[in-house]
Amino acid sequence: MRPNKAELIEMLSLHKPDELEALYKQAYQIKKETVGTKVYFRGIVELSNICTKNCYYCGIRKDNSNNNRYIISKDEVLEAAEWAWKQNYGSMVLQSGEREDAWYISYVNELLQDIHELSRGELGITLSLGEQTEETLKLWQASGAHRYLIRIETSNPELYKQLHPADHSFERRLQTIRTLKKLGWQTGTGVMTGLPGQSVEDLANDILFFYDEDIDMLGMGPFIPHKDTPLGHLVEGFDQELALENGLKLIATCRIALKDINIASTTALQALNPTGREMGLLAGANIIMPNITDTKYRSNYQLYEGKPCLDENASECVHCLERRIESIGETIGYKEWGDSPHFNKRQ
Ligand code: 5AD
Ligand code: SF4
Ligand code: FES
Repeated sequence: MRPNKAELIEMLSLHKPDELEALYKQAYQIKKETVGTKVYFRGIVELSNICTKNCYYCGIRKDNSNNNRYIISKDEVLEAAEWAWKQNYGSMVLQSGEREDAWYISYVNELLQDIHELSRGELGITLSLGEQTEETLKLWQASGAHRYLIRIETSNPELYKQLHPADHSFERRLQTIRTLKKLGWQTGTGVMTGLPGQSVEDLANDILFFYDEDIDMLGMGPFIPHKDTPLGHLVEGFDQELALENGLKLIATCRIALKDINIASTTALQALNPTGREMGLLAGANIIMPNITDTKYRSNYQLYEGKPCLDENASECVHCLERRIESIGETIGYKEWGDSPHFNKRQ
């Protein structure tokens, strides 16, 4: 049933601690009934911070010269993939800045084929590589990737315009999401909360957008200002606690409204509070994406400031995460893809 907008706005406007507690409880109950309390790991490799775009909020935008630009060698990515596979992770995610040149498209394509081969097709592969043509998406799909994450960032085209340069296109972003759906990818999107100029009604519309586009997975998080961006002036006066609350509230509301989809408890939550990712799970999320990028690259992949685990390598993070998940009484779905039940029903 299409969610009721007034009810969404009501949930998204809660602020009293006891009311928020009740909202998270309700979301957790629905999570139990629809996707269960098994957490699925997707080990994420941040392939490259080279990006052709200039989103005003992002720390790795093209015009930020305070990053050392890198691209990880194929061998190093394969090493990370093998580690994730041997660790019994069900899936991995390849994420990077956006580019569409031929060299890059085949670099990704060869990676997909090699990861598929080294894990005997067992490791599920999610891509998070931005806007691409239908042809590229078909190529990568044929090489073994089956899930794709591309956040719409905001479903309000006017707000989108305010947050991006004139040559960035809301329409093309939306088109990529629709093409993915058409081609049969398990499709994820998401938005940031707390964007300058964003209203509670915008967020309610975002949730209706997820419903109308029949989305399988969500990755959402609070906007965290980065000093080396055009929105750097917002660093001063940024309210971490409120940002965390808004992030959790959006997760909970999405779980209640959309039910059987996969929802990630994103690292941005942990940037705001050391136990932010556990809080995300308790507010209705069921996916965690442990960072398995070699630590030597991490300081150069800061889309927002205060990103955690800059010095902890993959094996340190995984044990830490295991403890965190057990501490809230949940289990980890090792060796399972953990596809979204919503997607499975659609098949
Ligand atoms: N704060 C929070 N999230 C951000 N992203 C980019 N910049 C920021 C920021 N300053 C998110 C975007 C993008 C994803 C990869 O990271 O939503 O889609
Ligand atoms: Fe590039 Fe994505 Fe950052 Fe935009 S948000 S500048 S597309 S990495
Ligand atoms: Fe990275 Fe705890 S999650 S060290």
